[in-house]
Amino acid sequence: MLHEGGKAGGSRLPRSTVAEPVDGDTQTFPFAVTAHPIARTACIGCGYWGKKVARNLAALNALHAVADTSPAALADTSNEYAVPGHTFQQVLDDPDCDAVAIASPASLHGDHVRRALSAGKHVFVEKPLALQVFEGRSLVKLARDRGRILMVGHVLRYHPIVIALVEAARSGRLGSIKHVYSRRFGLGKIRTEEDVIWSFAPHDISIILALLGETPTYVSGEATSILNPGIADIANIHLGFPSGVTARISVSWLNPTKEQRTVIIGSKAHAVFDDTQPWEKKLQIYDHRIDLSDAAPSISRADPVSPTVVQAEPLREELSHFLNCVATGRQPVTDGVEALGVLNVLEQAAKSVRAKAGH
Ligand SMILES: NC(=O)c1ccc[n+]([C@@H]2O[C@H](COP(=O)([O-])OP(=O)(O)OC[C@H]3O[C@@H](n4cnc5c(N)ncnc54)[C@H](O)[C@@H]3O)[C@@H](O)[C@H]2O)c1
Repeated sequence: MLHEGGKAGGSRLPRSTVAEPVDGDTQTFPFAVTAHPIARTACIGCGYWGKKVARNLAALNALHAVADTSPAALADTSNEYAVPGHTFQQVLDDPDCDAVAIASPASLHGDHVRRALSAGKHVFVEKPLALQVFEGRSLVKLARDRGRILMVGHVLRYHPIVIALVEAARSGRLGSIKHVYSRRFGLGKIRTEEDVIWSFAPHDISIILALLGETPTYVSGEATSILNPGIADIANIHLGFPSGVTARISVSWLNPTKEQRTVIIGSKAHAVFDDTQPWEKKLQIYDHRIDLSDAAPSISRADPVSPTVVQAEPLREELSHFLNCVATGRQPVTDGVEALGVLNVLEQAAKSVRAKAGH
């Protein structure tokens, strides 16, 4: 239950500023302020990403408590934001806690989400929702049965530039989409519980499914394990869609340089989203023209155009959206059902990788 003027961080804070999407205005700041009570939210897991989640929840006046099994991580975050440091069970037993934001290791997500929903909490969980589709399905059903919001952290869907890109694709600005490719490379955090497909690719899959609005009929994956046997460090996923559109995702956490780029090949224009560029150059649309009337196709090149998009921190936007959904009962953009679509692709890609490796 939500209460006006409830506790956050042990002191009473005004709870009337949850952000809300502005319909039909995706080119500008996507979320505006409205009046709703703010869910008192506990951050579960205060590691690399959980600290960022806690920082943003605190900035949104929503951070109620933190939990972590590491005493050092717990003390750090609890002290930094002056909120109680709890165990996960204490959070679940706390009647003043409305919601949890789970940033624990991926292998624990399924269990943490189930326990939180069963305790009546609204749930934001970092990607992936779970490590198996059947488990994801049971979580979606549980959230529905309990009447609780379940949102998954596909953070790039709240990136103002990605919102503009999806809008450009859906509005026909790019013509009919023929192919999409996405590359996410870096010398990133190397994990041992999940591979680079499960760690990096949920973002790309979520964007591609949003761009195309279709479910792939073909998913194939191939992967290379270099550091730990059986844990992919480098992988490619190929997707085929009913409309004939194809997509390719390449991910690696063993790359000397950072690359975060999505390219859309449309019949009218090509779009490049490069998240390593300065804000004003992150999205570039090329109105190249390809004339096929002669035997040899001719190309007229155009200079790129960068639409104006108001800058905002994607994680802040994402958590604002979660709080808004809890306050209003709206389904999140990346709800459990959206996450099941992503999970399906991850699972099929993983199966394909295993089959090629002879497992
Ligand atoms: N959206 C993104 O771009 C993004 C980026 C990085 C990580 N993530 C996600 O965030 C999650 C955490 O990743 P990370 O890089 O912060 O990992 P991490 O290992 O740095 O942090 C995980 C934290 O969870 C704690 N923990 C472990 N078991 C726990 C339990 N039972 N209860 C409470 N806390 C527990 C650990 O002590 C640790 O502090 C993962 O799901 C990952 O996929 C998302």
